[in-house]
Amino acid sequence: MSKLFIAGEVFHGAGSLEELKNIKGKKAFIVTGGNSMRQSGTLDRSIAFLQEAGLETFVFDGVEEDPSSATSFRGAAAMREFQPDWIVGLGGCSAIDAAKMMWVFYEYPDADFDALVKPFTVPTLRKKAKFIAIPSTSGTGTETTGLAVITDREKGVKYPIVSYELTPDIAIVDGEVCASMPAHITANTGLDALTHCVEAYVSNIDDNYADVLAKGGLEIVFNNLKEAVKNPTNIQARQNMHDASFMAGLAFNNAWLGIVHSLSHQVGALYGIPHGAANAIFLPNVIRYNAKVSTRFPDLAKVIGKETAEELAQAIEALRAEVNNISSIKEFGISKEDWEKNIDYMTQNALLDPCTGFNPRVPVLQDLKAIYNACYEGVAFND
Ligand SMILES: [Fe+2]
Repeated sequence: MSKLFIAGEVFHGAGSLEELKNIKGKKAFIVTGGNSMRQSGTLDRSIAFLQEAGLETFVFDGVEEDPSSATSFRGAAAMREFQPDWIVGLGGCSAIDAAKMMWVFYEYPDADFDALVKPFTVPTLRKKAKFIAIPSTSGTGTETTGLAVITDREKGVKYPIVSYELTPDIAIVDGEVCASMPAHITANTGLDALTHCVEAYVSNIDDNYADVLAKGGLEIVFNNLKEAVKNPTNIQARQNMHDASFMAGLAFNNAWLGIVHSLSHQVGALYGIPHGAANAIFLPNVIRYNAKVSTRFPDLAKVIGKETAEELAQAIEALRAEVNNISSIKEFGISKEDWEKNIDYMTQNALLDPCTGFNPRVPVLQDLKAIYNACYEGVAFND
């Protein structure tokens, strides 16, 4: 028996932000990032819709990229003052993931962050508030996942906090909210969604629902990402990418991910390489590594008119280049000396990452190190 985990209600389509008018409650605490939601007018529109629904609102803004646990504690303290019955994560995944962790510490002020890092340890939520996610980027699918990625800056580690308790009650998937997203973020978040489709499809959890969503998401990304990057005002392409991101998130919320994410979490935490950009560097070589044991890649290749795992890997490399994503770690400006200093630490942390346990091929340290080094140079992995 399997249970399908999905956001409680999902509103999707251009203009669906307006659904905020129908929220029933008293107080909404909105968590957002820097200025983009304010500048685009989305924040003001959200406030206006919530006020029309009769809710009092409070805005907690300035959530940084790759949010820290300290930001979660600050937000939770502000929540305890305001006492919301709704929490609204509005913006990129950083804002939404931070809002999820604030929610945990709002309901459980004495929770221990280090203990929550262990998967499925978040206590029962919704005793004080429910959660609305409104993404402005099309990549993580956090609007329908039980995941919040939080960075421990002192240790240089990104922790995926994993619990179905964190799956939002309401997801609003409105492509118009993404209209102001810069091209490089459109590209790397879209490549993150693509990675979710591939990793969920080949993970060691079989799930018919996830399979269909992963294949469908992959097809939509290949058909729309270039257009969304090159023509940012094309709302249909924006909505299609937003839908693909949700579908990919729904797929991996149920079938989980693999070592692309394990490798990527480390270079994100240590070097600040954007998550999707790093995934797109690792994905083709991880396909080559996993194809030695998984027979599932030709199914995915067929979705885009290809035949083999190698052709799929090469098609991803071509798409990566067409949307101007970097193709190696070296290209991000990391010196060989700096890389060699950290590689053993990163490899060990990647092996321990929760995503490693769902990879179709069971890696040992040397495997991960060899993939890391091929991706540092930007050469094809061959074992
Ligand atoms: Fe991801």
